[in-house]
Amino acid sequence: MITAEENKLLTQTDPQTPCGELLRRYWQPVALGEELPEGAAPLKVRILGEDLVLFRDDHGRPGLLGLHCSHRGTDLSYARVEDGGLRCLYHGWLYDICGRVLEQPGEPAGGANRHEIRHRAHPCQEAGGVIFTYMGPGDPPLLPHYEFLNVAPEYRTVIKIHEECNYLQGNEGNIDPVHLSFLHQCLDEAQFAGRRTVPGSSATDNALLGEDIAPTIEVEITDYGLRIYTSRDAGREKRYLRVTNFVMPNLSVFGGSSVDHGYSIHWHVPIDDTSHWKYIFAFSRQKPLDDFMRTRSRAELTADYRLTRNGANRYEQDRTAMKTQTFTGMGLNFQAHDAFATESQGPVQDRTAEHLVSSDKAIVAARKLLLNAMKDAGDGRDPQHVIRDPKANQLWHLQAMSEVIPISADFRRHIQERIAEVQRAYGK
Ligand code: FES
Ligand SMILES: [Fe+2]
Repeated sequence: MITAEENKLLTQTDPQTPCGELLRRYWQPVALGEELPEGAAPLKVRILGEDLVLFRDDHGRPGLLGLHCSHRGTDLSYARVEDGGLRCLYHGWLYDICGRVLEQPGEPAGGANRHEIRHRAHPCQEAGGVIFTYMGPGDPPLLPHYEFLNVAPEYRTVIKIHEECNYLQGNEGNIDPVHLSFLHQCLDEAQFAGRRTVPGSSATDNALLGEDIAPTIEVEITDYGLRIYTSRDAGREKRYLRVTNFVMPNLSVFGGSSVDHGYSIHWHVPIDDTSHWKYIFAFSRQKPLDDFMRTRSRAELTADYRLTRNGANRYEQDRTAMKTQTFTGMGLNFQAHDAFATESQGPVQDRTAEHLVSSDKAIVAARKLLLNAMKDAGDGRDPQHVIRDPKANQLWHLQAMSEVIPISADFRRHIQERIAEVQRAYGK
């Protein structure tokens, strides 16, 4: 349980709020590349409680500008894309991606004082099939050199899902290892016939997660956030080890038997305090992703990235299916389960009424990191995992695992061996 004040601190992300200012110190996804192909119409976007327009100028460069024209406020998502920028439909002012007013065509001499105006603009860059923006003060830091942003397109996939709840609820679900034994449990193992089993075992992750529902959890603080070790009994002197990560300030990294030589990422970007976009990446460093991996996160999704199972239709819960098919009666799509669990907590979970238990230790630790980082940002220091030195922009040690190992093995050493293996694979 936390205080009402702490809950506000952790969940409010509009401009000038401590958490809003913290999230603005990091590059954040603002759209999928597929939403803004060359020649596409500008996109009206809302992020961190701000209304903006994302567009690609006629050189193909993405730009993110304040939605309302600096002249008299007309909506720039209707504007013309031409002449090196975005031209407002009302009186033709032309803006470039940096927010400079290039033309005021209705003014004598094209607007002699137009250079004095600087329209709100945020820098953008593209990586891993996503357009990122930096909305904070000063020079932007480096975009972290995450593996999933740097592999070839056929080795990765990315999609986003609209979630009707605060961003923190979404991300706290990722760092809660116990729910995998309940919320996502499939009661019918036949559904997994022919699917990959967990390395080191002949069982699926569904079976292993169902066999030991009360795992041992350990948390370790790293430079990027938290590394979480979850250990389950896997019979015959073996343990099922999962290593997952909370990455500052609003993403998580985890593995599963379906991602071979790679991992999955959930990145929760506030639209405002009561809704967010969940960006879902997965990648392999070894081979192109198969159709299952490419389409899995697009299941039950509308063209505008909303789940067809939602609160309005009670996630299409089927109580007959709960007897033999799934724990939830909500189908096999994990994304729908997560949406149900987090959205049904309410738009902003009342954390003054929760009762945290020992298995919530990663959630407690992550909240502490966020609160400390807000203080750092408020005091003018770079918060944790803001990277400015190119030599420090290496994240090989950010790895996820899902493996069965001997009970005698030192599981902390196991992840270090994995990290060394990955570095060798990249010749580092
Ligand atoms: S309101 Fe945009 S140019 Fe006048
Ligand atoms: Fe989940």
